Amino acid sequence: MPRFLIQTFGCQMNVHDSRRIEEVLYERGYEAATEPEHADLIVFNTCSVREKADHKLRSMLGTFREWKERKPDLVFAVAGCMAQQQGEAMLSHLDLVDVVIGPDNIPELPDLVRQVMDGGPPVARTVFDLDAPSFLIARVRPGHPEASAYVTVMKGCDERCTYCIVPYTRGAERYRSAADIVAEIKVLCAGGVREITLLGQTVNSWHEPSEPVGSESRFAELLRRIAVEAPELLRLRYTSPHPRHITDELVRAHAELDVLPAHVHLPVQSGSDRILRMMLRRYRQKDYLERARALLQARPSFTLATDIIVGFPTETESDFQDTLTLVREVGYSSVFAFKYSPRPHTPALRLPDDVSEELKTERLARLFEVADELQSRHLQSLVGSRVQVLVEGPSKSNPLRYTGRSERHEIVHLEVPEGHDPTGQLIAARVIEANKRSLLAAPLQALPPSAARPPAPKRNASMRLPVVMS
Ligand code: 5AD
Ligand code: SF4
Repeated sequence: MPRFLIQTFGCQMNVHDSRRIEEVLYERGYEAATEPEHADLIVFNTCSVREKADHKLRSMLGTFREWKERKPDLVFAVAGCMAQQQGEAMLSHLDLVDVVIGPDNIPELPDLVRQVMDGGPPVARTVFDLDAPSFLIARVRPGHPEASAYVTVMKGCDERCTYCIVPYTRGAERYRSAADIVAEIKVLCAGGVREITLLGQTVNSWHEPSEPVGSESRFAELLRRIAVEAPELLRLRYTSPHPRHITDELVRAHAELDVLPAHVHLPVQSGSDRILRMMLRRYRQKDYLERARALLQARPSFTLATDIIVGFPTETESDFQDTLTLVREVGYSSVFAFKYSPRPHTPALRLPDDVSEELKTERLARLFEVADELQSRHLQSLVGSRVQVLVEGPSKSNPLRYTGRSERHEIVHLEVPEGHDPTGQLIAARVIEANKRSLLAAPLQALPPSAARPPAPKRNASMRLPVVMS
């Protein structure tokens, strides 16, 4: 029986895709390699949003080169955005790679690997399923329920943010019907899932696939339908929304639906109108602020997180100051910030990458200083308050603690007495301490005893290698 290992780079979409790759392989008789050295197939599920991710793949392939020299039958497959972006060309400049597979071609992976294992030449398959889009479905592992799962509602992107490679690596927008989405969620809930994260590159632009391209967003309706038809769900998240599709209906849904958390990750990218225009973000600072304020007021103690790019071509100190002002004004609970990185095919490539590396580094550090201060103030303000923790599982570092997320998405470590296991439960707790990036809380209610839990699923050896996030 062949054994596999998966290395995941990048975003939540890739984490979801890696799980689906795993399932496709299990279905074809593969098993997870419990020791990396025993793998017959290594899949690198890549990201190409920033250049750093390219370098990570190269260095990781370098690490594995020795294994392949020792075991020439070992097959290397590259999946994800880099695979899609480079296609067949990757086979000529990365000599270790045997299979290149695009995000829409994952079900074909076992056949392509078989061809190579049978002595066939290296092969690439990177074709978008534009005419008949298919969506990878999340499955529950029988006997091993998980609290959280991802469900795709749309894929691809028709925005053309000038720095972004995603429209080229994930193709045009394709939507999934509400009926299919709800059916998948119901199956997951029946299998014990209590938190769903809806996925899409511009998730909140969702409308029915039968409606013309560019139709108005009906995402709020979708959320309401899921809330009604899957009453067992405790939390319904989504990522990544585009600010221009934060409609009044969506804000209202946040005010009215308990299942929606009091938190949204709403990428802003820059606080300068001049840079936003050059990025083709299709909103101004004041439009973003207006939408952000509406969300912040939808529910008490609502928080926002964001993505920011520093050092976009021509960004001046004054543009950067506009970003800092906006960050303080919104008071984000967390900020993900990146140095601008020129990417192939993107319109911004025509602009000079004229902010020096030193200046990008300096701006990033100044931005993190402001963001860290905001985050720490926010976490401190929660000490003594009551939180609802959806418990994801045992803490990785402390056997007497479990880890989960609050209603606002803060990471919460929960003190759990021996003999109890609150995994998958929503637990009321009191915050007793704020750490740099997380909270420590004590339960305010009786916890369920540890059931005679079935043995854990065979661990994929990749779980013990670092998961590389870009
Ligand atoms: N350079 C730097 N950051 C980028 N992102 C997307 N493209 C680039 C790029 N070329 C960031 C954006 C996006 C996040 C996923 O990655 O902030 O929201
Ligand atoms: Fe990229 Fe913009 Fe599409 Fe997001 S909305 S995936 S940043 S092009």
